[in-house]
Amino acid sequence: MYDKMRAKLEKVVPDVELRIKAEIAVEINALKAERNAVILGHNYMEPALFYSIPDFVGDSLDLSRKAAQTDKDVIVFCGVRFMAETAKLLNPTKTVLLPSEKAGCSLAASITAQDVRDLKARFPGVPVVTYVNTYADVKAESDICCTSSNAMAVVESLKSDKVIFLPDEYLGGNVAREMGWNIIFPDALTPQPPLPITGEGGNALTPQPPLPITGEGGMMIGWRGRCEVHEKFTVNDIQTVRAQFPDVAVLSHPECSPDVTAASDFSGSTNAMIKFVKESKAPQYLVLTECAMGDNIAAANPEKDMLRLCMVRCPHMNTITMEDTLSALKLNRYVIEVPEDIRVRAARSVQRMIEIG
Ligand code: 13P
Ligand code: SF4
Repeated sequence: MYDKMRAKLEKVVPDVELRIKAEIAVEINALKAERNAVILGHNYMEPALFYSIPDFVGDSLDLSRKAAQTDKDVIVFCGVRFMAETAKLLNPTKTVLLPSEKAGCSLAASITAQDVRDLKARFPGVPVVTYVNTYADVKAESDICCTSSNAMAVVESLKSDKVIFLPDEYLGGNVAREMGWNIIFPDALTPQPPLPITGEGGNALTPQPPLPITGEGGMMIGWRGRCEVHEKFTVNDIQTVRAQFPDVAVLSHPECSPDVTAASDFSGSTNAMIKFVKESKAPQYLVLTECAMGDNIAAANPEKDMLRLCMVRCPHMNTITMEDTLSALKLNRYVIEVPEDIRVRAARSVQRMIEIG
């Protein structure tokens, strides 16, 4: 195991750490076999984990598909909670484990099921597309899910000129621009007055009237959720690097702002960016996404020149360690559960997405 990991990670992980991680990986793999488990690893896992224990690595869509296909008894998800939940939606009878209780996501935390119900009341009959970076109760209120790699295909599949797209403001903006649609945000249309507090019988909530939808082309109704990692990248960052390396290929994730993706040479899901670097012949690469993925790409492409802009690590992905993955298998933790009524409705939204491709 040490030799296998060293071949990939010699330049990325210090030797002393590699030896320790290789020992943990051997233990994890033995337990994995004993428990008939599969380990799914998102592209944002730290390099030692990424290149040792997962049976499959990939982006959100890829891993949802792998989760749907597995015949193992236990699924260990080295990613964040919404990803493990998605695996559970598709595999109700299997045990799904998330190695850290703290692996959340700022996008998933930005919206509740009640928010979706309120939007549906304000825009009656408009289909709801929900990014997979949401929790099961939000997916359950939606018509269909999408990921960063299929968002446009999902919106197009609805054959509607109006769509509620939740909760990523930037992914929504990027998809709308690509499709030549407008995007509106309900909060910008009608500033909400502060709610009067009556004291007697609780808050006086005034139901919002349906909003008029205008516009010639398609119309997207967005939400102000953001990824706390990708919102940090700016056009100025790109210009600074281009000034020094004029031929650099700049890649950005669609969770970056539309200004940043417009200033990039390529924007796509984590898998799409990995593929781009592998196949392109640019002299240097700047990948505007979570930084562990930059290390993983560098390890897979030692002959390519990867520029480091800064160290923006997703604090949630960062809580998933090999040590905790070992404990997850040993102690059967943390078990993902979803109430059955929510699971059935949420699974339908995910399944509809998977069927699109
Ligand atoms: P991908 O679907 O591109 O893997 O993205 C998931 C994610 O959380 C990016 O921040
Ligand atoms: Fe969520 Fe952003 Fe972390 Fe992805 S990188 S899991 S979108 S907080």
